[in-house]
Order: sequence, then C-alpha cells, then structure tokens
Amino acid sequence: MLLQGKNAVVTGAARGLGRACALRFAEAGADLVLIDVGQDIAGVPYPLGSESQLEHTAELCRKYGGSVLTVTADVREPRDVERAVGQALDRYGTLQVLVNGAGIAAPSGKAVHEITEDEWDLMIDVDLSGAWRMMKAVVPGMVEQHAGSIINISSTAGLVGYRHFAGYSAAKHGLIGLTKAAALDYAPFRVRVNALCPGSVRDDPVFEGRMLAEIARSLDVAVDEHEQIFVQAQPMNALIEPDDIAGAALYLAGDDSRQVTGTTLTVDGGFSAR
Ligand SMILES: NC(=O)c1ccc[n+]([C@@H]2O[C@H](COP(=O)([O-])OP(=O)(O)OC[C@H]3O[C@@H](n4cnc5c(N)ncnc54)[C@H](O)[C@@H]3O)[C@@H](O)[C@H]2O)c1
Repeated sequence: MLLQGKNAVVTGAARGLGRACALRFAEAGADLVLIDVGQDIAGVPYPLGSESQLEHTAELCRKYGGSVLTVTADVREPRDVERAVGQALDRYGTLQVLVNGAGIAAPSGKAVHEITEDEWDLMIDVDLSGAWRMMKAVVPGMVEQHAGSIINISSTAGLVGYRHFAGYSAAKHGLIGLTKAAALDYAPFRVRVNALCPGSVRDDPVFEGRMLAEIARSLDVAVDEHEQIFVQAQPMNALIEPDDIAGAALYLAGDDSRQVTGTTLTVDGGFSAR
C-alpha cells in the first residue's frame, strides 16, 4: 500500500500505459483522478481513447476499494485542464501525484521538411505543452503542501532520434528538458519531477493500448511483424510490458524515491545502453 492516503491524477487514463499506472496506483491504495480526451482528435490518424474506455479503467480501479473520479479533458485546452484539476481538488482537497501519460504517436512518418505547420503544432501541443499545462494547474497545491511527485512519460524517442519521427522525438526530448527545469524550480518545496522513458511497450489487450502499432505504422514497419522487429532493438530480447512502466511509475510516485528528482528513468530492456 505504497500510495495509501495519496491522491493521484493520471492523464491518458482511458487505455494503455495510463490505465496500467491507474490500476497499479489503485492497488497501492491511492485515490484517483483519471483524465482522458475521450474522443478522437482531428489530425491524429488513429482512434484515441473513448469515454467508455475511461469508465472501464475506473471500474477496474474501483475493485481495489479506493475513490475514482473520471474527467474528460483535452490537455491542449487550458480551460479543460483547469476544470479537470478544479474537479479533482473539489473532490479530494489535495493532490500528491501527477502522471502525464496523455500522448499521441502521429501525425508522423515524414522527413523534417515535409512536416506541415499544423502537424508540428499538434504534436508539440499534446505531447509537450499538454504536460506543461497539467503541471501548471497541479503544482501550486503541491508547492503549498510541500509535497508532490510528477511523472512525465517521455520515451526512448526523448533520448535518441528515430527516422521520420521528428515531431514526436522533439516533443519527448522537450519533455525531459521541462522535467529537469521543473525539478529545479520545485526542489525547495519538496515537489519532485521525473521523466519515465519506456522502450517499445507491447499493446496488451487488457490495457487496450495501441501506440506500438501506431508507431510501427508511422515508421513504415509492417504492422503484422512489428513486435518481432521492435524486439530485435531491445537487448533483453523482449517487449516492455505495461506493468513494467506502471511499476516504475509507482516507485517514482511513492516515498521510496523521496530523494529522486530531475532524473530520467529508462525502462527499455537495454535499448539506450548502446
Ligand atoms: N506504447 C509505447 O510503446 C510507448 C513507448 C514510449 C512512450 N510512450 C508514451 O506513453 C504514453 C502513453 O502511451 P500509450 O502507449 O498508453 O498510448 P495510447 O494511445 O494507448 O494511450 C494514450 C492515451 O492518451 C489519450 N490522449 C491523447 N491525446 C490526448 C489529449 N489531447 N488530451 C487528453 N488525453 C489524450 C488517448 O485518448 C489515449 O487514451 C504516451 O505519452 C506515449 O508517448 C508509449
């Protein structure tokens, strides 16, 4: 029960890694605020998490006995973000943990000069500015209470480049920079900010994640062979499981990591060791 008595916000919670973190946090005793856009976004060429998937995550979490609030909000919209965090504070009074998991893998698949203004803006708006907006809304309460842990889900694409993936890679590199700067801003207030860099995570049906298949499509990797191809890049010869990421997030959320801030925790089966 590492998170007993803590209230945690998770964005991108309708499915995938957001759902995995939410479930692990619920099991660890946290009360939860689960946020997702809950609908498709113009310009993203694949379906995003739905409201019913968000509710399903909540139902799975409630089985552990804690309180769960769901809010549909688009992290691109400052008013949505303020409303969501306002609802969270109305329900719980304080927030101790924020996981920025909301993200998109596409529009991608183009060389840098081929990316349009709209495609660039969309990627940065969701994958980088969205996390900044959530932090901006949640941090004042954490500073006031002198306690908090923020976990920004970046990627190995935040550590190295991938061909035809510049917008995503730039956003995820930016997220690591944001994490380090914020860690310094808030260290005097005992608010910790860390980045988590997953390698290639299996799209597990329990969590309904679909990002790896979408990354494959963007990188022109055959979708029916993509798992095999991504495995070859990971020296431990296995895809990462959503629970591996949730376990790392739990460590960063809980008090065992109380002296850890501004760091990048990579869970990639050795991919970035080369
Ligand atoms: N799956 C992987 O292999 C992998 C690897 C590295 C990093 N990541 C990162 O992990 C995070 C979660 O990815 P995933 O695999 O669970 O993907 P996913 O597509 O399965 O889930 C992402 C969730 O974010 C939500 N979302 C997207 N845009 C949003 C917005 N504007 N506002 C609110 N919610 C929004 C979606 O609706 C969806 O439910 C992402 O930031 C992703 O970049 C994933």
